[in-house]
Formats: sequence, C-alpha cells, structure tokens
Amino acid sequence: KKVVLAYSGGLDTSIILKWLQTEYGCEVVTFTADLGQGEELEPARAKAELLGIKASNIHIEDLREEFVRDFVFPMFRANALYEGLYLLGTSIARPLIAKRLAEIAAETGADAVAHGATGKGNDQVRFELGVAALNPALKVIAPWRLWDLTSRTKLLEFAEANQIPIAKDKRGEAPFSVDANLLHTSSEGKVLENPAEEPPAYVYQRTVDPEEAPDQAEVVEIGFERGDAVSIDGERMSPATILTRLNEIGGRHGVGRLDLVENRFVGMKSRGVYETPGGTILLEAHRGIEQITLDAGAGHLKDSIMPRYAELIYNGFWFSPEREMLQALIDKSQEHVSGTVRVKLYKGSARTVARWSDQSLYSEKHVTFEEDAGAYDQKDAEGFIRLNALRLRLVAVRNARAKG
Ligand code: ARG
Ligand code: SIN
Repeated sequence: KKVVLAYSGGLDTSIILKWLQTEYGCEVVTFTADLGQGEELEPARAKAELLGIKASNIHIEDLREEFVRDFVFPMFRANALYEGLYLLGTSIARPLIAKRLAEIAAETGADAVAHGATGKGNDQVRFELGVAALNPALKVIAPWRLWDLTSRTKLLEFAEANQIPIAKDKRGEAPFSVDANLLHTSSEGKVLENPAEEPPAYVYQRTVDPEEAPDQAEVVEIGFERGDAVSIDGERMSPATILTRLNEIGGRHGVGRLDLVENRFVGMKSRGVYETPGGTILLEAHRGIEQITLDAGAGHLKDSIMPRYAELIYNGFWFSPEREMLQALIDKSQEHVSGTVRVKLYKGSARTVARWSDQSLYSEKHVTFEEDAGAYDQKDAEGFIRLNALRLRLVAVRNARAKG
C-alpha cells in the first residue's frame, strides 16, 4: 500500500506523514508544490528525509507558471468573484494540487492520496472532488476526519513521541490559519473568529496598511491578449512573472485587502481576511479592457453566468462538465479582448484611468456631443422608444381600468 501526501513541510502535515506510517503502515510519497507561497521548499525535502522518506519518494515541484497560466488566468477571464467579493485565491489552487496528487499516484503506483484539510472546510471538498474526477479509483485519507488528535496538546505530544521537530514558534497555539500562493494570502480562525471585531494589524502579511501607503500615486500599464495579461509597462512577461510584479506594486499601495464573512460549501459561515494585491489590479484592468472590446450582448451574458462559475470553483467543481462548458463560453467571449489598460494605485485603491485597443468597439464618432457628420440619426430614437413604451402604456391603461 502506498499513499501520496500533499506535504507542506509544516508541523501538521509532518504529523500526518508519521501518522500514516504508523497507523496504516504504508509507504508514503510526499508532494510539495511551489505555488508562490513565498516559502523555501528545500526544508520540506530535508524534513521528509528526516521522517524516513526515501529520496525517490519525495516530489518537489515549481508549479507557479502552470498555476497562473492554466488556473488563475482562465478564471480571471470570467472576472470571477464569490459572493460579490472573494477572488477565490485558495479555491483556484486546490484543483492543481489535486491534479498533481492524482498524477503522482498514477506514476508511483499509489492507491491512495492524503491531505491535511480539516473536516469542517471547503478544501477537503475541493481536493477530493478533483481527485475523484481525475483518478476515480484512488482512495482518499483525510486524517483530520479520522484521528483522535483533537487538541494542540495531543498533536504536540504525538510529535514529541515521534521525534518530529517542532519549531519554537509552533509550540504555542498558532494565532490563526494561513493559506498563501501567488494569487493571495488568506487568514482564518482564532483571533479572527469573532466577525464583530476588527482584524489586528499583524494579520496582514503582503500589503501595507492603505493609511500608511505612499502619498504619491503610481501608474501601471497592463497589456492584454485574448483576455490574458501579457505585459507590464510594455514589457512582455510570463503569467507568473506578471502576477508577481503586480503583487509587489499592489502590496506597497495597500491594494486588495478584504475582510469577509462567507458561506462555506459545508453549510457554515466563516470569516476570512484576504490579501490579493495583484489579483485586484488584474480584475480592474481586465474589466477596463473589456469595457472597450466586448460587445454589450456578449458582456452581459458572460456577467450573468459569472456568479455560477465562481460558485463552481468555490465548491470544488473545477474538473466538472459544467465548469468546462462555462469556460468555453467565457473563452469565446475573449477573442477580441486585447489592448492596454492604465491603472492608478493610490492608498488601497486601483482605478482604471485609460484604456485603448486596436480591437475597440468604442466609436467616438457615434457618441460625441458634437456634430457627428451623419453617423447617427437622432430621429431613429423616437420610434425605438415608442415601440419599447408600447407594452408599458398597455399595462398602465389596464391598471387604471382595474382601479375603476
Ligand atoms: N475560505 C477560503 C476558501 O475557502 C480560504 C480557505 C483556506 N484558508 C486557510 N486559512 N486555511 O477558499
Ligand atoms: C480547512 O478547514 O482545512 C481550511 C479551511 C477550509 O478548507 O475552508
């Protein structure tokens, strides 16, 4: 029996690793991915080796480009927001981890995968729906739903009894739970659990307080091709480089902070604090380029399916027929979404201030308040309004009659 574990190198997944070895007596393969969380991966290798994993069973991968190119960018083509506000930074990373878990299981002949998500959250659902869709024969082991290590004390006792090194700052209770990648940092739990209380300043990790951001605004120009960002200030860059750069710029201007009470798929409400500096700029800029390149019918249709699309990603259905159908519609809409947007960053805000494109539908000739040289006949509007008003008149007459 062999199991592939999504291993961060942290204390919790190290305990899971040991627990799998002792409880199941199975061979453990570790998988650690760089999704841009800003942590070194080599310590995870050293720790896995220390816990008795042989080198050939340790998988460490830099997935940053794949993450942004094949997951983040397709999602941003939809302007996806869950419950109006959440940019889905954790939700969109889980399908990629599930995909690599399923693939590594196939490569190594494992019959199960394991993860460190709790039984209360969304992440367990996302991992397991992804694995089911990609490798339906695989079993899933979710230790948090199985074991009796239900308190910090019990976890630390288990770690000590099994010679798992515990970093000094991990001895006490962690102040809150963090998930980070190139798109965002999310913080939940503990000091954040009471939504009536403002988050303490130390929760924020990658954005300055907007009140302390520079007094000087900064401008950034983002180039788009077919709905995807391809350049910053005229310089072509890879998807992960673009997001990294936007995170730096947005972070120093305090852009992209969100304090949200959201509805988890498993039924409860939870409070999260999110920092999505680059993603917030990207959403603003993408909407900016769509403003001039998308036809009204196309734009309104894709906007109407966006909440559904966002909910599918939030609920873990990235690898589902309906998400792929919606993606096909969204991708089709992006054929002419190319051009450049200038965004101004200032004390927490990111505002589009200019946009231009050689595929623009904007016609100054038609819209001008000045002489339009016959481009548009204002008399046409009279009949247009008269026919649109017809049924409103009929309703009004009927209502008056009914009132007597
Ligand atoms: N609530 C967010 C989501 O479901 C983030 C979950 C993970 N965050 C964490 N701090 N463990 O996408
Ligand atoms: C967890 O429960 O493991 C993290 C939070 C979530 O998945 O929603």
